Amino acid sequence: MQTKVLMVCLGNICRSPLAEGILKSKTSSQHVFVDSAGTAGYHIGNNPDKRSIAVAKKYGIDISGQRCRKFNFNDFAQFDIIYAMDLSNYYDILALSNEKGHIDKVKLLLEEGSSSVREVPDPYYGGTDGFEKVFKLINQACEMIAKKINTNQTS
Ligand code: 4NP
Repeated sequence: MQTKVLMVCLGNICRSPLAEGILKSKTSSQHVFVDSAGTAGYHIGNNPDKRSIAVAKKYGIDISGQRCRKFNFNDFAQFDIIYAMDLSNYYDILALSNEKGHIDKVKLLLEEGSSSVREVPDPYYGGTDGFEKVFKLINQACEMIAKKINTNQTS
């Protein structure tokens, strides 16, 4: 069985492209399909932010080919788990459906793992330090997600 995971932030150019790339790097595409989207449509069709591409590259992950898209209602049916980077993304996603089956799929990414913070901060208006910090937070959570998914696979 293939688990379908969607990573969501606001712009889909900084945090969720990193989350997509990091989780893909820890799982096999046979078992896990990973995608990302933004709750806003400011950057549709664009590649990830240069600073996200750079920090990913530093850790051996290529996210340069990703394209920004906006989260849409069909994503509730398409994906098994929808991870929001922060509470604002989380509530923006929940505002699009009141079906229990949809709501139950939406989680905060940092609920996975043992991070002391609940939200992946928005690094867009900050410096490169912020991207390094965001990479580490996402990486920790994805490590836990990959472990969980890999343990649940029977083949
Ligand atoms: P992201 O960061 O949600 O991690 O992709 C942002 C990207 C763009 C904007 C805000 C946050 N923006 O306002 O354009």
